[in-house]
Amino acid sequence: MDIKKVKIIKLDDLGRGIGYVNDKIIFIPNALPNELVSVKITYNNKKYLEGEVIKYYNKSLLRTLSFCPYYNLCGGCSLQHISYLDTLEFKKEKVKNILNKFAKLDTDIDIVKNEKEINYRNKIELKIEDNIWGYYNNKSHSLVSIDYCLIALSSINEVLKYKKYFDIKNGSIAIRSNSNNEILISINSKDKVDININEIKKYINLKGVIVNDKVIYNNSYFIEEFDNLKFKVNYNSFFQVNLFTFKKIVDYIKENISGNNLLDLYCGVGILGQVLSNKFKKVYGIELNEDSIKDANYNMKLNNINNIKYVCSDAKDMMKYINDSIDTLIVDPPRSGLLKSMIEDIIKLNIKNIIYVSCNPISLSRDLNLLKDNYEIKDIKLFDMFSYTYHVECVCILNLR
Ligand SMILES: C[S@@+](CC[C@H](N)C(=O)[O-])C[C@H]1O[C@@H](n2cnc3c(N)ncnc32)[C@H](O)[C@@H]1O
Repeated sequence: MDIKKVKIIKLDDLGRGIGYVNDKIIFIPNALPNELVSVKITYNNKKYLEGEVIKYYNKSLLRTLSFCPYYNLCGGCSLQHISYLDTLEFKKEKVKNILNKFAKLDTDIDIVKNEKEINYRNKIELKIEDNIWGYYNNKSHSLVSIDYCLIALSSINEVLKYKKYFDIKNGSIAIRSNSNNEILISINSKDKVDININEIKKYINLKGVIVNDKVIYNNSYFIEEFDNLKFKVNYNSFFQVNLFTFKKIVDYIKENISGNNLLDLYCGVGILGQVLSNKFKKVYGIELNEDSIKDANYNMKLNNINNIKYVCSDAKDMMKYINDSIDTLIVDPPRSGLLKSMIEDIIKLNIKNIIYVSCNPISLSRDLNLLKDNYEIKDIKLFDMFSYTYHVECVCILNLR
């Protein structure tokens, strides 16, 4: 076994400790700055090493005891060895450095706390092997059996108490809950699946069970209430996973948005455009997923909104569908961010106010770098949507210069 002694210098963007072995960089999970550790080398390529701590010679003052027995095993959380407040400091510092590196912006950033800290996720996806449910370990890729997940809503953890009523040999299960504790379960498996729905219904408020994209019980969706509106959420549509923090994002956007015509790019099931619709004459929503667009149209009717037009299209083709003058834009893209051609289109449209919601500070910084000559960056705020993980959610307000 290749064992090395390493002094940790700082944390990387994934929350791993960084040190050096003979001038070669090494990344070590669960290791904090100023700690001296013995590590087993678990990965070695030309550029870097990865290691696993086998002994701590000293412990950082930041170190705390993790609260979950599956921490460091299940591959989910990555920052449970520091306090919640220190996870927020880590996230602020990480985004500040990324903005500096990729957009040459030097700015201090605020972060808005997650009021729930734990039990905040309304969706989890577990793997199943030989009827055992769990997450895959990051390193070994072996299944780590779990009985609960402390970052998931309690209503989701209730379902895990009744695993014995599911006979799923191999595959995966996604469990979604809304704020009324209603549950939607979707299973994928190549084997025969047997579920004792009558028994489960005694304990769980089951709204639908879907196996291999076929509804086998009740519905393929539930209705979620958010910001005094209702949203149909299909089992396979994107929906925000932490509505506690997302409410804070929406309030912040409401304070910073104004105009006549809003374009909601990457609109999903329409949540942002609909909660903002009463501030605009007309709203346009563009989204690639056909089911999400169907749900967005359904939600508009459910909410008695009549000033939104939805288009199912790749966002990069937005110019084909814009015949109106757009003065306000929300973009909430996937991790890859915006294409360069889209940024050129946005600049051509002379949009006055842009709200950029991003789950990836690197693509956000790259895009801000292209926008910043034409747009003043009025504010960037972080919102803690994914507590105890290294993931961050940024919202950036841009005004035309
Ligand atoms: C981060 S989610 C945001 C959804 C929505 N704004 C919300 O708050 O629920 C990104 C959305 O972009 C959609 N999407 C991904 N690639 C796309 C593309 N090339 N064009 C349009 N929409 C896309 C996904 O289906 C997903 O609904």
